[in-house]
Amino acid sequence: MNNGMLNTAARAARIAGKIILRNFEQADLDVAEKQKNDLVTNIDKECEKAIFDFIGSKYPGHRFLGEEGGAQETRQAPETEAAKTRKPGLGKASGDHLWIVDPIDGTTNFVKGIPHVAVSIALQINGVTELGVVYDPIRDEMFQALRGQGAVLNNRRLRVTDAMGLDGTILATAFPHRKRELMDSYTAILMRVFKECADIRRAGTASLDLAYVAAGRLDGYFELGLKPWDMAAGELMVREAGGIVADFKGGNDYMKSGSVLCGNPKIAKRLVALAREDSANL
Ligand code: IPD
Ligand code: CA
Ligand code: CA
Repeated sequence: MNNGMLNTAARAARIAGKIILRNFEQADLDVAEKQKNDLVTNIDKECEKAIFDFIGSKYPGHRFLGEEGGAQETRQAPETEAAKTRKPGLGKASGDHLWIVDPIDGTTNFVKGIPHVAVSIALQINGVTELGVVYDPIRDEMFQALRGQGAVLNNRRLRVTDAMGLDGTILATAFPHRKRELMDSYTAILMRVFKECADIRRAGTASLDLAYVAAGRLDGYFELGLKPWDMAAGELMVREAGGIVADFKGGNDYMKSGSVLCGNPKIAKRLVALAREDSANL
């Protein structure tokens, strides 16, 4: 796998990863609540800025959607000497390139000192996700995917599991902690799924849940209430590892609705069958 933009994404993720490691379990974190049960720290903001500055220095004019930047913005990075002399082609300014960034996925884990966090960076060109990286700085695991060229973990090719059905499977999920009005629909689905699988994890970092499905560590995953930056990189990874990603109705609307499920084709199909009944408002 060799692509300049993918390398840029991976390098940006490592820069943020170093900041995360340096500040992990530090007592003087500046923690704020953006809304109820939704934390942000000074380190989330520092990581996002470092990622935007690094990618922006390579690709001035590309657009950025970052969790901590709030809305979509066009960021004109200060022009470097390299940018001034760069040939057209890769790196040429273009409004069609959108980087979708979660600088720390798993902020609550980060605040609590739970060592399960990631940096998630995806690039969409003309609305199509072309590449994604999910970097776990604690374990130094770099998950990368390039559309049409597969997904790797530290250069090892990824493949979803070959489970034939939910029996014996280990899945991941998350409670709708910021959308408690969806709790009844969610618990109905959870109970139906739990009756059929071996067990379910709730680890607190959506991008790693997706990357772990791609890596075959988990057989499947479902969550509702996600944002594009939680899943843009991870969903490409699952698809490039041979998995299916869908919304709770079995469609492709998950980036908009925030309700996502995945696994190999058989697992995804079964999850849709179990979710559909309660998916009216999801
Ligand atoms: C959260 C994590 C968590 C998921 C939440 C996300 P954040 O992202 O990915 O696992 O359950 O839905 O919002 O806020 O830590 O970046
Ligand atoms: Ca997130
Ligand atoms: Ca985040």
